[in-house]
Amino acid sequence: QKVIKIGLLGAGTVGSGVVKVLEMNRQQITERVGAELMIKKVLVRDCSKVRPFLANYQVTDKIEDILNDDEIEIVVELMGGLNPAKDYMLRAMEAGKNVVTANKDVVAQFGKEMFAKAEEKDVDFLFEASVGGGIPIITPLKQCLTANQVTEIMGIVNGTTNYMLTKMTECGSDYESVLKEAQEKGYAEANPSADVDGLDAARKAAILASLAFNTRVELKDVSVEGITKITPDDIEYAKNLGYVIKLLAVGKETQENGVDVRVHPVFLPKEHPLAAVNGVFNAIFVKGNAIGDAMFYGQGAGSLPTASAVVADVIEVSRDILHDNFGRVRCTCYEEKPICPLEK
Ligand code: NAP
Ligand code: HSE
Repeated sequence: QKVIKIGLLGAGTVGSGVVKVLEMNRQQITERVGAELMIKKVLVRDCSKVRPFLANYQVTDKIEDILNDDEIEIVVELMGGLNPAKDYMLRAMEAGKNVVTANKDVVAQFGKEMFAKAEEKDVDFLFEASVGGGIPIITPLKQCLTANQVTEIMGIVNGTTNYMLTKMTECGSDYESVLKEAQEKGYAEANPSADVDGLDAARKAAILASLAFNTRVELKDVSVEGITKITPDDIEYAKNLGYVIKLLAVGKETQENGVDVRVHPVFLPKEHPLAAVNGVFNAIFVKGNAIGDAMFYGQGAGSLPTASAVVADVIEVSRDILHDNFGRVRCTCYEEKPICPLEK
């Protein structure tokens, strides 16, 4: 039985979930892949932290231990932030290793560079968990929906703010305490201002719009407003008028600009399907000219749901390794020359 060895960068909320999913579903995953997936080394910042779930793993604080290990074929980046995550992923691909990441910061800002390196070194670079936590949305946009011309994509893509708005609406909780709860549950980013200021949703919107419209939408192209200015009075007014407040990410094809992508709070009528998406759940609508409306729904953050998407990517890479890259899908929107709808 072949053993495919993995280097895990980061063992926080998502990294610990990946360890757990690979352990609890080991037999089923091995049968489905036709090889055993084994985490060989784990990179953390602070090796002195007590982490019982890593008792059986080799833990290091030196990236070279993983990059110089020829047995490691897949590097899973779950550290977050731009650097050194981006640098480590580029160096991993340079060393011929496949990369899986949940890092929307890097994909939204440096997708072009990452894909160019993956193409150059003929390795995989997969990022299903970067948007929507456990919800399959990147793969559907890259594969299942590519027969369509997508005209609109819209949804709730940040679990932290949706959790906060839900609690503020349903329980009258105050802003600071619900933000703290979301952090304790592992939903929030290391710096939670990325969640509440809308930046995390904007990164995800840029990734979704790039794939949906097959054009490279960059973070600077997304107009952003977060939830920091929403007051208890706003929530109460919305309630009394039959609305709920949701932070939406919206991408549309337009005649004038090509693609319009924005993130902002919206008053939604209570009957709207997105009004019923509560707590950490996310939902993404896609409108295509063949499929019509499609909706993707599930837990948008958290340890195991996000690990579900990460491990699925690891399985995909493992199949590519075993079957000589059969089925590798290119993300043309991140190639040298983006295809802009205006240029069609
Ligand atoms: P986290 O809980 O803060 O964990 C980060 C881990 O990375 C920690 O183990 C930390 O080590 C390690 N780390 C950070 N910087 C490092 C460095 N310079 N060198 C070595 N190790 C380093 O983060 P997370 O919530 O798991 O998120 C990880 C990634 O997944 C982020 O890109 C995030 O946006 C994305 N994501 C998160 C969720 C979620 O629900 N949390 C969902 C989807 C995507 P120490 O433990 O020693 O500090
Ligand atoms: N902080 C993010 C969220 C994690 O709350 O949605 C999932 O990407």
